[in-house]
Amino acid sequence: MTNEKNYADVKTNKGKDWFYTDIVKEHFFNPKNLFKTKEEADNYDADGMGMVGSPACGDMMKLWIKVDSKTEQIKECKWQTFGCASAIASTSMLSVMVTENGGMKVDDAMSIKPQDIVKRLHDLPPRKFHCSVLGDKALREAINNFFEKSGQKDRVIRQGAKVIDKILNITDKDIEEAVLEGATNFESLQKKTKIGVQDKSCIPEAEQLLRFYREKYFGAD
Ligand code: FES
Repeated sequence: MTNEKNYADVKTNKGKDWFYTDIVKEHFFNPKNLFKTKEEADNYDADGMGMVGSPACGDMMKLWIKVDSKTEQIKECKWQTFGCASAIASTSMLSVMVTENGGMKVDDAMSIKPQDIVKRLHDLPPRKFHCSVLGDKALREAINNFFEKSGQKDRVIRQGAKVIDKILNITDKDIEEAVLEGATNFESLQKKTKIGVQDKSCIPEAEQLLRFYREKYFGAD
């Protein structure tokens, strides 16, 4: 019965969950701009470096950029990860996107969204969506690091977490992570985070954020 239920859950998730597109496979088997050795990474003279970990799976991502100081275009984007096939393919694609056609300007690269990467990959299984967030978060960290290193601290953009459930100290970032891990409605969000179990006054705001992040990452419900 449990297996049947699990199978049904997977089946209802658009039916494409088990398959990677050809372009995902191409970037996984032949990743672009990946550092293959520790020496390469250690000896790289980067203008900015970002490192993030995924709370969803514990995987790490490190990303380095070189930026043309006059045009602010990203000339090189290198990376390493302990992440899975989806993380490798997503970050490989991201590194191509920010360096193609002479390089993307840092301000434009700052606003790349996971959906932009997923679109270029011709889709990712929904349950692997959080893997594509690793690369784009690391890129934003690397750009912030570039701003800091080049004396432009006023341009650093950091997203702070806002506490939504004041009793259990659950933030908007926790809601975002829960959505990336598959929370689709308030019940599943509450199951993952315990939000609103004690502090019922936060439920309307939590529901609003749930809709916001669902829309942001998966389009309209
Ligand atoms: S990066 Fe951890 S599951 Fe994909």
